[in-house]
Amino acid sequence: MTPATAYAHTNIALVKYWGKRKGAIAGLNLPATGSLSLTLDRFGTETRIEPADADDFVLGSQPVSPGEAAKVFAFLDRVRALAGSTARVRVTSRNDVPTAAGLASSASAFAALAVAATRAFGVSLDERALSQLARQGSGSAARSIFGGFVLLHRGARDDGADCFAEPLPSTLPVNLVVVRCGEGKKDTGSTDGMDHTAATSPYFRAWVDTHAADLDEARRALAGGDLPRLGEVMEHSTLKMHATTLAARPGFFYFQPTTIAVLQAVRALRAAGTPCWATMDAGPHVKVLCAPAVAGAVAAALQAIGGVRGVEVAAPGPAARVLA
Ligand code: DP6
Repeated sequence: MTPATAYAHTNIALVKYWGKRKGAIAGLNLPATGSLSLTLDRFGTETRIEPADADDFVLGSQPVSPGEAAKVFAFLDRVRALAGSTARVRVTSRNDVPTAAGLASSASAFAALAVAATRAFGVSLDERALSQLARQGSGSAARSIFGGFVLLHRGARDDGADCFAEPLPSTLPVNLVVVRCGEGKKDTGSTDGMDHTAATSPYFRAWVDTHAADLDEARRALAGGDLPRLGEVMEHSTLKMHATTLAARPGFFYFQPTTIAVLQAVRALRAAGTPCWATMDAGPHVKVLCAPAVAGAVAAALQAIGGVRGVEVAAPGPAARVLA
């Protein structure tokens, strides 16, 4: 193997993935629903792979839990199997987002690892196959292989062959205003949160049953350049996802008081004539979709809310890539 470094950008789902497909082989990590995302120009993960005597995983200056390291090593085993190699490696990653703070760092992490590891082990995969490989590390990572708007197909096959990501070319100008509403690691990671919800929430079935219609509507809105329609279905998808967690047993939620204050402010901005829509993932932060022309005003209004730790304006970003 040869040393290789890759960078992948974070993506945020507009129409969410939440829950695995029932009965699917666990290692394939097949989602119960498709999803539609936006890859951002801000935030991401840089990952370097080099030869070593034993597998090792270093994440900036942050401590790595045995579970996190095991996931990375299991992912390397998949790539080694494709390459017919037993070489051990050191993986050094640096996140431009706070790890596990709900800014979707597993998406950029496993996308960067997929690109760096396939390059290091000399495995040649097209982008579709790379997205399928990244998905096995983390479902959302499949989407960070591509830039801009991206669709992850749910697929139907048990072997996952039809569950891959692809870009949705669009000229719709958008920004995503990322509003940090808390610090530190989240209590319930996305994998545990979605598994517990799927197992215990009576609303999970409704989430799955109504999901395809949301995805269709978002795709049509995107194709038609209809930002209000895209924003409306995005907010619907996020609130519906979070409703499934409230109805789990025991129920749980990712909202902090600041999260609610920001959601209310987004509604107030809209009522006052500034078109913007909110989404949240498995953490307290809020991401606000709007046209670039109003992003500065949206950011300024949300920055002024008590408890907000920081606001950054992101634009559509590029695909994952090998760094020279
Ligand atoms: C709420 O991709 O982190 O961000 O596949 O178990 O690793 P695993 O889950 P992950 O879940 C992302 C959930 C979400 C919505 C989304 O990104 O679509």
